[in-house]
Amino acid sequence: MGIKELDNEYLMSTYNRFDVVAVSGKGSYVFDKNGKKYIDFGSGIGTLSFGIADEIWCEAVNNQAKNLAHISNLYYTEPPVLLAEALCKKTGLKKVFFSNSGAEANECAIKAARKYSQDKYGVDRYKIATLKNSFHGRTITTLSATGQEHYHELFTPLTSGFVSLPAGDIEAIKSEAKDNSLAAVMIECIQGEGGVVALDGEYVKALADFCGKNDILLIVDEVQTGNGRTGKLYAYMNYGITPDIVTTAKGLGGGLPIGATLFGEKSKDVFSFGDHGSTFGANPVSCAAAKTVIDRLDDDFLAEVKRKSDYIFNSLSGEKGIVEISGMGLMIGLKTEKDAKEVVASCMEKGLLCLTAKDKVRLLPALNVPFYLVRQAVEIIKQSV
Ligand SMILES: Cc1ncc(COP(=O)(O)O)c(C=O)c1O
Repeated sequence: MGIKELDNEYLMSTYNRFDVVAVSGKGSYVFDKNGKKYIDFGSGIGTLSFGIADEIWCEAVNNQAKNLAHISNLYYTEPPVLLAEALCKKTGLKKVFFSNSGAEANECAIKAARKYSQDKYGVDRYKIATLKNSFHGRTITTLSATGQEHYHELFTPLTSGFVSLPAGDIEAIKSEAKDNSLAAVMIECIQGEGGVVALDGEYVKALADFCGKNDILLIVDEVQTGNGRTGKLYAYMNYGITPDIVTTAKGLGGGLPIGATLFGEKSKDVFSFGDHGSTFGANPVSCAAAKTVIDRLDDDFLAEVKRKSDYIFNSLSGEKGIVEISGMGLMIGLKTEKDAKEVVASCMEKGLLCLTAKDKVRLLPALNVPFYLVRQAVEIIKQSV
């Protein structure tokens, strides 16, 4: 049997895969088993921040794997400490908890928000508001937080204590908070899986203001938008707000699994020994890898991300076959006249890998994608739409 048949036989059928067997890559190129070369505008769903087999990243991973791949959180190790220090210094947030995925980073934030509010205001203040069309993960609790009912349907009963409100409606949040049961609000500044939809700036500011005044924790889910993806280190920095808790994953590890929950001043001491944990969280190899990502996201690099983004927005907006272009930085959604899946298939045939999000084509190239590949990708997209 070939790989596809073996996959079909032995792996749970949760993914509707494209007809590509990927075997290797370099930078923003992926090679399949027939030797076909693709430009990668999916980057492992926004995880390969510096592309495939990036030399600095590989060196850090190899060195750490050779020295100490894992030891557990029962002992001190250097990589998570240095990574946490870098994250706190760059964001102004105060403490970090490391896990293995976006869903876990959000689970940690949810537990922290519940504990913070219950410690301070008692057990009746437990509710967490999220937004309609949001996506926060696939564990039962993060699924419950996700504001898209079709994800819930087969998996009831869900975790209680979540309410999903329309994005942009500040009155809905205020009304939900009236009975003093609201512990936190969790948002994505750009709803990625929801179709690359950016929240309105005034709304986000009003929300941060209201949460701040009422000691309701504002959690920003930066699993997809974080780590340079939008042209700022974190997407909330485009909105001029300071969240209480930030969660991130995907691009942080540059291709290895890691999740991080960052806590601000208010919530930095919410957990004590034993309140939370993770066997593989703060894994030294993942943390050493992530440090090479975070260290390189300086102002010059982020300005380049923005320049490439501007080129894509300018080249594709108003183009025949493209109805709308949304997103920020190198997280871009294209509403096309043709069905998005058809466009993605046509791009793939022409040697460009891209993604979908709801009814849109989604572009998430590596942040260091060279400009000449951005130009080539734009040409392929124009031909495909
Ligand atoms: C905004 C957001 N939150 C959470 C998740 C879940 O992350 P993971 O798949 O790493 O658990 C995702 C994944 O797409 C996401 O986009």
